[in-house]
Amino acid sequence: MIQALDPNVEHTLILIKPDAYRRGLTGEILARFERKGYRLAALKVVVADEQTLREHYAEHASKHFFTELASYMASAPMVVAALAGEQVVAGARTLVGATQPTTADPGTIRGDFGRDWGSGCVENVIHASDSRAAAERELAIWFPELA
Ligand code: RTP
Ligand code: MG
Repeated sequence: MIQALDPNVEHTLILIKPDAYRRGLTGEILARFERKGYRLAALKVVVADEQTLREHYAEHASKHFFTELASYMASAPMVVAALAGEQVVAGARTLVGATQPTTADPGTIRGDFGRDWGSGCVENVIHASDSRAAAERELAIWFPELA
């Protein structure tokens, strides 16, 4: 049986993006969040469809890079996870690091596992919600069954 998310606990959404899934980095990345002390509250493997990506990246839907971004995000399966714990939204963003993998700090997930592949798209290993409001919105998009 699927266990609903506890409304009294803070949650965030992470997407282990297609570049990382393809390279077999899923386990190592999830292990970092567990080592930090966050709990894995939900987990699944999905191939994203365009409608879901438009909703997820609504703030970027009109930007010049959206077509490339959507094609990158649908290029292979992704692992979608909900993480739980006090201050997990901010904590997960800290572990993830800066958007550009070339300059993301070593020690962060993007800094340690990401690089520029010359694909014309910022392939950066992982997504994490950037605020509590975003986390709530994004969890409803990717885990409607847990509402
Ligand atoms: P994310 O939403 O995926 O966690 O990444 P983020 O907050 O660090 O960065 P954001 O500005 O929200 O951008 C979302 C994703 O779009 C791609 N991107 N491409 N070509 C470009 O200028 C560009 N800028 C952003 C990246 O994959 C980024 O993670
Ligand atoms: Mg973002």
